[in-house]
Amino acid sequence: MRNWGPVSPKLPRLWHGGDYNPDQWRHDPAVLEEDVRLMRLAGCNAMSVGIFAWTALEPEDGRYEFGWLDAVVDRLAAAGIFTVLATPSGARPAWMAEKYPEVLRVGPDGRRALFGVRHNHCFTSPVYRRKVREMNGRLADRYGRHPGVLLWHLSNEYGGECHCDLCQEAFRAWLRRRYRDDLDALNLAWWNSFWSHTLTSWSQVHSPAPHGERYVHGLNLDWRRFVTDQTVDFMRAEIAPLKAAAPELPVTTNLMGTYRGLDPWKVAPHLDVVAWDNYPCWHGSGTVPGARGAWDPDGKDWRLASDVGFVHDLNRSLKAGRPFLMMESTPSVTNWSSVSRLKRPGMHLLSSMQAVAHGSDSVQYFQWRKGRGGCEKFHGAVVDHAGGEGTRVFADVAEVGRTLSRLDEVVGTAVDAKVAVLFDWENAWAIEDSQGPLNDGRMAYERTCKDHYRPFWARGIAVDVIDEDRPLDGYRLVAAPMAYLVKPGLAERLEGFVRDGGVLVSTYWSGIVDEHDLCFLGGFPGPLRRLLGIRSEEIDALYPDQRNAVVMERRNPLGLSGSYEARDLCDLVRLETAEQLACYERDFYAGRPAVTLNRFGKGRAYYLAARTEERFLDDFYGRLATELQIPRALAADLPEGVTARVRADGKNAFLFVMNFTPEAARAELGTGGWTDAVTGAAAAARVDLPAYGVRVLRRATGA
Ligand code: GLA
Ligand code: ZN
Repeated sequence: MRNWGPVSPKLPRLWHGGDYNPDQWRHDPAVLEEDVRLMRLAGCNAMSVGIFAWTALEPEDGRYEFGWLDAVVDRLAAAGIFTVLATPSGARPAWMAEKYPEVLRVGPDGRRALFGVRHNHCFTSPVYRRKVREMNGRLADRYGRHPGVLLWHLSNEYGGECHCDLCQEAFRAWLRRRYRDDLDALNLAWWNSFWSHTLTSWSQVHSPAPHGERYVHGLNLDWRRFVTDQTVDFMRAEIAPLKAAAPELPVTTNLMGTYRGLDPWKVAPHLDVVAWDNYPCWHGSGTVPGARGAWDPDGKDWRLASDVGFVHDLNRSLKAGRPFLMMESTPSVTNWSSVSRLKRPGMHLLSSMQAVAHGSDSVQYFQWRKGRGGCEKFHGAVVDHAGGEGTRVFADVAEVGRTLSRLDEVVGTAVDAKVAVLFDWENAWAIEDSQGPLNDGRMAYERTCKDHYRPFWARGIAVDVIDEDRPLDGYRLVAAPMAYLVKPGLAERLEGFVRDGGVLVSTYWSGIVDEHDLCFLGGFPGPLRRLLGIRSEEIDALYPDQRNAVVMERRNPLGLSGSYEARDLCDLVRLETAEQLACYERDFYAGRPAVTLNRFGKGRAYYLAARTEERFLDDFYGRLATELQIPRALAADLPEGVTARVRADGKNAFLFVMNFTPEAARAELGTGGWTDAVTGAAAAARVDLPAYGVRVLRRATGA
């Protein structure tokens, strides 16, 4: 296994720090001095500076003030702390909005925003692009070769969309390129003869709008693709002056997990390192109307931890396994989630190390210090309004700092995954836009992908989370739940993968539409039909309280028995070349196939026709994992809520054992030779973990 090397040779250690806003404290220099003292106490080595500092950097058009930033970067550097330097495009000055209104975003309703909030610029506006270019060029000239500057932090959480006239024109030009100037091709791709929507001129194209066109799925898909492309184009325009002045300084931007507004697979190739902002709501339970934030409704943190693991793995997969940066997380609570519940003792270290276990080379926070005002004044921070180091949160952060400081050799180590779960943005857009077969929120594509991931998480099995365009070589098992939209080439690649001995797991609601959201003709699952050896004829949607059951056939090759509950969606399929492993128990389709297996070349393709209870996925993937001898972090079974992960290179293996339950737990190590990576002490044959406990072990593996 290889080592990817550090993000920057300047700091070949795990990074610890976070968003630092000295621009909010320029009136109070004592605070800035105190910050550096506290950062050292907390074991911080990398701070993100200047994210929303445009007004401080350019107080009026063309007048720049860098003196304060010079002092900050130098003061940090003198204390051995590096700067992750932001470009300030995430929020713009009032003077700019007043002078150049075109920089402000226009909503889908056609209304231009007033000056205010953030993340709301027009990404097409030539004026905004010019102002960003001038700003970034100056930042790059001044700081691009500063020994204390580690990385560029592009803007902040690129997202949202603009519907102004400039963007409409750009959208039309984008479409003309995509459809090679052939309006008939666009009309066909969007199925515009429906409701007499045929366009006769490019000028009739308009972005989806609440008071206009919004049910043309092909338009909606193309608009989302355009928004991603235009955002990436803006981002590349940000990068150009930075790389011109300092080609070796890496760039990143902070992505937002499974945020749907931007396809991260299109962003990642332009970044030197992937980064993301991670805000799970630990210790939540139940449901809250209009919930903001993600927690497990049954109050099980470990289930949420599995979902978080899924997103960490996605971010590691974005650059083919290269370690990523957790750019933000909260030291205690968020203040935007429905409920701001404090992290229980142990949880801060555990959730921080979870990121590292899945491939992050950093633990970064929002935010370093709570501001006195503004809407984030109650958001968790390392330094509270009271100031100083005498808080529980500060002690927790300092513990993370101490732990990371002992793990230098984790930097750049890799995660070796033999399993991939497909989670694709364009597919998500299409499923979530489609009308039927369930319109009450239960299509749940993302939830379903995370449900298919959980059995691996629970077994300590490493997984890559990839989209439909990635290569499949090297995997033994690929799970592709609900691959409704099949991009060109996917079916061929899946066939090749299975023919060569791979195992594919596919489900209901797959192979329905092409990349334009046009239904495949000739029988579902369209291009996957030959590989799966079935034909899907109808799909039955169940009301929330309705159930069927999946009954395993006697002596089925999976060795599963009994029956499992089915709910939500039951696909009615006919066998072509596949065999039936389970059937439906009830209703007019009792006895018809519910789980099938098609042997194809050297491999196998399974089809799960129904959405089942979790127990089925656990048993099913458990069997496959054993049969395929998919490596686990630990050979022994792990108790519920405990998982383990390995990061390794040719020299060392690091084993992370994590207990996401509020009770003590024990994990059997099986093989010996492990030492505690933090204390250096030899490890016993088993690891005892307190509630929300984590241990990092290390073993030399030669070379
Ligand atoms: C996002 C932003 C930060 C801050 C945090 C609060 O991640 O990037 O600026 O607003 O949310 O959780
Ligand atoms: Zn615009």
